[in-house]
Amino acid sequence: MSSNTLLFSSDLISSEVQAALPKGHTIRPLSSEDYEKGFLNVLSVLTVVGDISKAQFLAHSHEYFTIVIVSPENRIIGAGTIFIERKFIHNNGLVGHIEDIAVDKNQQGKKLGLRIIQALKYIGAKTGCYKVILDCSEENIPFYKKCGFTQKEYEMAWYT
Ligand code: ACO
Repeated sequence: MSSNTLLFSSDLISSEVQAALPKGHTIRPLSSEDYEKGFLNVLSVLTVVGDISKAQFLAHSHEYFTIVIVSPENRIIGAGTIFIERKFIHNNGLVGHIEDIAVDKNQQGKKLGLRIIQALKYIGAKTGCYKVILDCSEENIPFYKKCGFTQKEYEMAWYT
């Protein structure tokens, strides 16, 4: 991502989801300016973010569609990513992987998480994915069910 740019085209942002947001809020692609607006701070509800420089932040590739929700005060209060995988199986089909959904602690419970997921599903459908999947903790299963997901496989992990 070069300076002063959006990560991807705003055409991929669902206008229905924008219309459903609380007054004064915006949903848009991640921007190079969001480093200064609290993007990494929002992600800290998920896990340890670490010390990421602006250069590292800008180096992220555009295969990732990261969106943010912006408050009326111009702060990032929610974020989420879908990355699109090209399969060798299923006729070279595309699968969307949802990652790192985060809503600021003080803003949770206001349907912002739901809006982020709806917007990411829209991007998955628009880019031609035949399915969109994600891994989550047991406690978040009810949230994803409310977002229209059903439980399918098990997650496996290996740490180096
Ligand atoms: N258990 C039961 N129901 C829940 C839960 C939960 N843990 N979380 C949300 N819901 C329900 C809400 O009550 C609401 O139901 P309703 O439509 O009947 O009113 C519906 O799900 C939508 O909830 P939102 O208000 O959109 O949820 P919120 O904005 O708080 O976002 C999120 C949910 C993203 C899980 C947020 O709480 C958060 O950031 N948590 C910490 C980080 C985290 O766990 N992220 C997800 C990691 S998994 C991944 O990234 C793929």
